[in-house]
Amino acid sequence: MEPEPKTGPYPTGRCVSDVNARVPVAHRGEFEPLELGPLKVWPPVILAPMAGVTNLPFRAICREYGAGLFLSEMITARGFLLGNRLSVLLASSDPSESPRSVQVYGSDPKDLGEMVRALVDEGVDHLDINFGCPVPKVTRSGNGSAVPVKPRLMARLLASMVRNAGEVPVTVKMRKGIDEDLITYMEGGRVAQEEGVSAVGLHGRTASQLYSGVADWNCIGELKASLQIPVLGNGDIWESWDALRMMRQTGCDGVIVGRGCLGRPWLFRELADVFDGNTPNDPPNLNEIVGIMEDHARRLCGFFGEAMGMRQMRKWVAWYTKGFTGSAGLRSGLRHLDHQEQLRPLFDGVDLMEFFPRRALRVGRAKGSKQQRVKLPDGFLENRADDTPPRGPHTLAEIEEWERSLQGG
Ligand SMILES: Cc1cc2nc3c(=O)[nH]c(=O)nc-3n(C[C@H](O)[C@H](O)[C@H](O)COP(=O)(O)O)c2cc1C
Repeated sequence: MEPEPKTGPYPTGRCVSDVNARVPVAHRGEFEPLELGPLKVWPPVILAPMAGVTNLPFRAICREYGAGLFLSEMITARGFLLGNRLSVLLASSDPSESPRSVQVYGSDPKDLGEMVRALVDEGVDHLDINFGCPVPKVTRSGNGSAVPVKPRLMARLLASMVRNAGEVPVTVKMRKGIDEDLITYMEGGRVAQEEGVSAVGLHGRTASQLYSGVADWNCIGELKASLQIPVLGNGDIWESWDALRMMRQTGCDGVIVGRGCLGRPWLFRELADVFDGNTPNDPPNLNEIVGIMEDHARRLCGFFGEAMGMRQMRKWVAWYTKGFTGSAGLRSGLRHLDHQEQLRPLFDGVDLMEFFPRRALRVGRAKGSKQQRVKLPDGFLENRADDTPPRGPHTLAEIEEWERSLQGG
């Protein structure tokens, strides 16, 4: 294979990986807007909820590139209701954010209902619940991805949300199951539909797989075939073309885009293009990306304050520069990135005309390739018909500790 030029046009004329080299853009009428209650979403694309990532500043950047729905990271219902500073900040919005989508996290039907009501009163347009979190301390108490193991509990939590949401659509985000021996998505989808949920998002991995390997898109197709409500496919949308392939292959009604947009918010412009039948422009070069990073840093500092904003920015710089020549050398400087003005000097002596490296298109920028044995509470599987809410982070101190640990990403 010819070495890829670092600057100048791509040999193919466009920045696309081999697997997608021949995927045609959408033809007119091929896909419909995604309908979630009164919302019509075009393109049918949702920014995945990601803790430590999809805060208001990043959602705003993504929205400026494209269109669709842009979900907040998961907000702990109990933290929000107790007025925990970080929970309230992460749930906050501004008038330019429309439609506004919030993902809630919790296992007490009363808390969930109260949080939903408060958000609806604030004018939220869409609510999602996280039934996919695989973090050990979450599943160990029967929360997150453990919930769909207990269909009656799942039904009870959803009923409380849907009842309190009124006209505002509620969606569910879940995984295939706990592991290959305990697959729950078909039953989870049925429960969600019965409880009046507007759509189900399915990440084609088990909790045991975490983020490793290749997502299974077949399960998305199977779920789609079994439900009347829309199904949103999630897992491995690295390029806009993957979204088209996933929708064509599975028949799903929309896609949820996670790690592919970390340090690549222009992916939403590319998604809007291919769904509108246009071939996307190439991604920005390093010089433009440094400008995007400066803007991102400014917004994070405005939202979190400079100390926390720049701490968060360190991981973003690593993500934005992934695959560029010399990106590994930048890492040591990131530990001392405390002020916005320190950002551009990191690139002194770097060739800013370098094009976005094609090899960086399909690499995970967060979470790695580990797998795990999922921890469930003792005796959890013995009574799957039980609908008793599990205990989650409850006191303010527990919630603060929990949310701080998530901000690491
Ligand atoms: C840093 C990070 C944080 C995440 N936080 C959440 C979360 O708060 N809520 C949730 O439902 N999923 C969360 N996820 C999972 C993503 O929403 C998504 O399901 C997953 O990354 C698979 O999609 P992908 O292959 O496009 O990345 C997180 C993923 C990452 C990488």
